[in-house]
Amino acid sequence: MYPKDDPRSVLEKVAPTPSDVGALGAAATVEVDNQPPAIEHEGGARTWTTSGDGFRAAYSRLNAGQKIRAGDSDEPYLLYVSSGEVAIENEHQSENLRAVVQEPSVLLVREGALTIRAESASALVWALPRDSNVLENPLQLSRYDETESHSVAVYSLSDVEEDPSRFGRIFSSGAVMMNVLPMTYSERDTTVLSPHSHNFAQCTVTIEGRFIHDLRVPWGADMMQWVEDEHRKCNSPSLTVIHPGIIHTLRWGDGRSHFVDIFGPPRDDFIEQGWVLNLDDI
Ligand SMILES: [Fe+2]
Repeated sequence: MYPKDDPRSVLEKVAPTPSDVGALGAAATVEVDNQPPAIEHEGGARTWTTSGDGFRAAYSRLNAGQKIRAGDSDEPYLLYVSSGEVAIENEHQSENLRAVVQEPSVLLVREGALTIRAESASALVWALPRDSNVLENPLQLSRYDETESHSVAVYSLSDVEEDPSRFGRIFSSGAVMMNVLPMTYSERDTTVLSPHSHNFAQCTVTIEGRFIHDLRVPWGADMMQWVEDEHRKCNSPSLTVIHPGIIHTLRWGDGRSHFVDIFGPPRDDFIEQGWVLNLDDI
């Protein structure tokens, strides 16, 4: 259910179906400040990860001077530089600079191993194909011609024009999709929430702010499988995978709030609405 002025109100309605979530629960959350990183990169950068059916999501934190090396990927992926300044370099020839990112930007990485070097404290959000091991396998060599200059596309969010008829700021790699929602500065109006469900998983990565995930498991015939509604509080940064079929909406608090949604494979309904900003580049 979407309020009528929510762009998503034009999307096809999906009736909730009873979910057999079992031990999964409605959602799984990783809180960056309360849980150890999944990956400690050489030099000290750290990455937290989670995954859904068709995607892998990750959040990385780098201090100035730290690096993350990412191996070549079989499929294109997306990387959001949410804060800081980073230099994107060729994996084996640091003088072969591909891009310097100085403001919040989404990168489409089509192919090739990379080094991401933080010039200042930086945060990265990764939307990767489900079985991607680019973060664990940085030594995997590039497949592409080193002279190719178009292997990474950079989309600065400051170049994205506001359009109230479009939902968020959506980018696709062809394998995964990322929606970078605009920063908000005040509490969400709880009279126009957007509880909805879909039959695929979603990862919400909170970057700044305090959030509450409202989660409801639809009832099935077996009452023993019913689950109490949950109103899960989350600090930032955090990664929450909401399992398929769960009715969900997100509330945020006062002050700066910023989050990203990740899907894999990309959502056809978002593509059909013309909301994907980089469709011509995939
Ligand atoms: Fe959703």
